[in-house]
Amino acid sequence: MKIQDNFNLSGKVCIVTGAASGIGRAIAIRLAQSGASVTVADVTTDVIEGGEPTASMLEKAGFDVQFRHTDVGSTADVETLISDVVDRSGRLDILVNNACVRHARPLLEMDEAQWHHILNINLSGAFRCCKASVRQMIRQSAIDDVRGRIINLSSQHGIISAPGDIAYGTSKAAVAYLTRQIASDYAAQGIVCNAIAPGKIQTGAGGRAADPAVLDRAISRTPWPRLGRPMDVANAVLFMCSSSSTFITGAELMVDGGWMAA
Ligand SMILES: NC(=O)c1ccc[n+]([C@@H]2O[C@H](COP(=O)([O-])OP(=O)(O)OC[C@H]3O[C@@H](n4cnc5c(N)ncnc54)[C@H](O)[C@@H]3O)[C@@H](O)[C@H]2O)c1
Repeated sequence: MKIQDNFNLSGKVCIVTGAASGIGRAIAIRLAQSGASVTVADVTTDVIEGGEPTASMLEKAGFDVQFRHTDVGSTADVETLISDVVDRSGRLDILVNNACVRHARPLLEMDEAQWHHILNINLSGAFRCCKASVRQMIRQSAIDDVRGRIINLSSQHGIISAPGDIAYGTSKAAVAYLTRQIASDYAAQGIVCNAIAPGKIQTGAGGRAADPAVLDRAISRTPWPRLGRPMDVANAVLFMCSSSSTFITGAELMVDGGWMAA
């Protein structure tokens, strides 16, 4: 077997949440290019950075990609997503929990409804998708010892504080914990579960993400001489989806240009 065959995902059935835009879109593109059947699960098809919707763009290019309208904040939506994918494809090999919302406020300015909303999407959304997916994965046959893989998007801002952004950072810290817990509880049943923690990735999103002060801070914190690109993260996801990474589980891989090393 050639080493690049490890990165051939032909026959693999994948779901990427929040794949309409940004990092999720790049992940869907990279997994489709690697041969996987990909379901884009999002509340919208609108592309924040512009361009044709992820699923229709990839379908037109000949890839096996479909869109399922899914709010990860809804248990019913998540259950329907997983059962639709399994009805269509017979199994679910890879779940990427990427969907997120942001509402940057420090403690004293964070109202409780917004706190619950951020945690409901970023943390409980990942919990719901993991629960419905692992329930399916442990029932299906193992391929090369693996019944299913989960990759959760955490953040360097769940490890160190996210300035003025208490709910987002808390949600990301908890996602990293969720990852370790699932990895250890379900390793014996062939579930591989890892997190990827991006540093500053430029996605085309406006608002705080493009605030010059936020960008200046990110540039000054990032040793590598550029900020991250969505494909930097997507390539790390591909590695975590590949048979090259099976003995890596419960890990949190930084994709941050050295931010956390400096
Ligand atoms: N961009 C960065 O610098 C950065 C840094 C660290 C971590 N991350 C993480 O990477 C992931 C992607 O970030 P991004 O910057 O591409 O985000 P983004 O805001 O560009 O995209 C988020 C996607 O999630 C979707 N979404 C929002 N609510 C949803 C819901 N309820 N159900 C389903 N989908 C929903 C949006 O429609 C959008 O397509 C997130 O988990 C984020 O925390 C990003």
